[in-house]
Amino acid sequence: KYAVTVAGGGSTFTPGIALMLLEHMDRFPIRKIMFYDNDAERQEVVAKACEIYLKEHAPEIEFGYTTDPETAFTDIDFVLAHIRVGKYAMRELDEKIPLKYGVLGQETCGPGGIAYGMRSIGGVIEILDYMEQYSPNAWMLNYSNPAAIVAEATRRLRPDSKILNICDMPIDLEEKMADMCGLSSRKEMQVGYYGLNHFGWWHKIYDNNGNDLMPQIKEHMKANGFADALSDTNQHVDESWVHTFQKARDVYAVDPETIPNTYLKYYLFPDYVVETSDPDYTRANEVMDGREKFVFGECRRIVENGTSKGCAFEADAHATYIVDLACAIAENTQERFLLIVPNEGAVENFDRTAMVEIPCIVGCNGYEKICQGAIPQFQKGLMEQQVSVEKLTVEAWIEGSYQKLWQALTLSKTVPSARVAKLILDDLIEANKDFWPEL
Ligand code: G6P
Repeated sequence: KYAVTVAGGGSTFTPGIALMLLEHMDRFPIRKIMFYDNDAERQEVVAKACEIYLKEHAPEIEFGYTTDPETAFTDIDFVLAHIRVGKYAMRELDEKIPLKYGVLGQETCGPGGIAYGMRSIGGVIEILDYMEQYSPNAWMLNYSNPAAIVAEATRRLRPDSKILNICDMPIDLEEKMADMCGLSSRKEMQVGYYGLNHFGWWHKIYDNNGNDLMPQIKEHMKANGFADALSDTNQHVDESWVHTFQKARDVYAVDPETIPNTYLKYYLFPDYVVETSDPDYTRANEVMDGREKFVFGECRRIVENGTSKGCAFEADAHATYIVDLACAIAENTQERFLLIVPNEGAVENFDRTAMVEIPCIVGCNGYEKICQGAIPQFQKGLMEQQVSVEKLTVEAWIEGSYQKLWQALTLSKTVPSARVAKLILDDLIEANKDFWPEL
């Protein structure tokens, strides 16, 4: 049986993940769940509710929550890391500061993503170090954002660590594609994919009998993008995401040879994104008014009632990939995942030192990469520009370099000029003075 620490215990995603872990105990049996956060107060609300839930549904599991690293990271097998340094208050600034200058505001793309990256690097490295200090055999499954920058930082600063960097967005989109093909799950497909995180393309999709699914998916993408898959699955989706899935059709039209990750809309249609953004009410506001209120309200209710009976929490089905990944390591399942890993030739005509998102086979010793061959000029050009943004951000963090961070913003395809880059940067520095290294 396994012991798991959730780093970012106070996250609004934590209850859904805890419930999801319980649902999969038959294949991933758990003996201990520990929550860790550096914000005791915020974590306590979530943890107390989860404690009640666990007592009622899986009393055999040892549960604890703490802000003390030694308690959190001793005697564990996996760290599930989803930290948000600066929380939603800072996300709001990441989104609103660029919008003030007519540049898109997004938590992982453009200046907002760079700002968030500068906050996250230290936090993720710290947790990795705690894990290695107190449980040297443990693995960290990291889906903290902005994943591209965080992954590059772990490559540069902790190249030998037992960390797997993974993102849920391709998984989500693959579920939608499986749905388009009438398959019950993405696990009935084998894909070829290359790119950076939140910046990639599917170039091969087969079913498990070897039939090419691309023609069918392309037909669908041409007509609908990912939009109509939404109504099929009947899930609740906020307006900002509906936008994203609708725009996927136009993103696809730019290169109909490949199926794009929806995040490419930020780079290919930044003008559209800005036009359809409200500079006074961004995704951070949507989340604070929606998910934050819901999760914390529900947690408080559970604690007040002293029972989780009738609570509205649901297992985060979307997050079962975390169990799949943990099982792949723990049980050596050799399952295939898209991971963010050092390229080293897997994308043949691209920077060997880039952190690329590609299919890998995961087993007890970690991952093995699946070579994706050479990529077309269009994707290569876009990726070269974007990977430079990510590398310069990490270098700026390591060296405390204003110049490099200015270059990173200037290179971002979402920013029109070095002048605008500097205006945004100077505002971001002011806003992030409690979080960034001194530049
Ligand atoms: C997707 C992305 C994540 C991102 C999340 C944002 O799952 O893959 O990288 O963090 O969306 O969700 P939110 O609801 O906070 O905007």
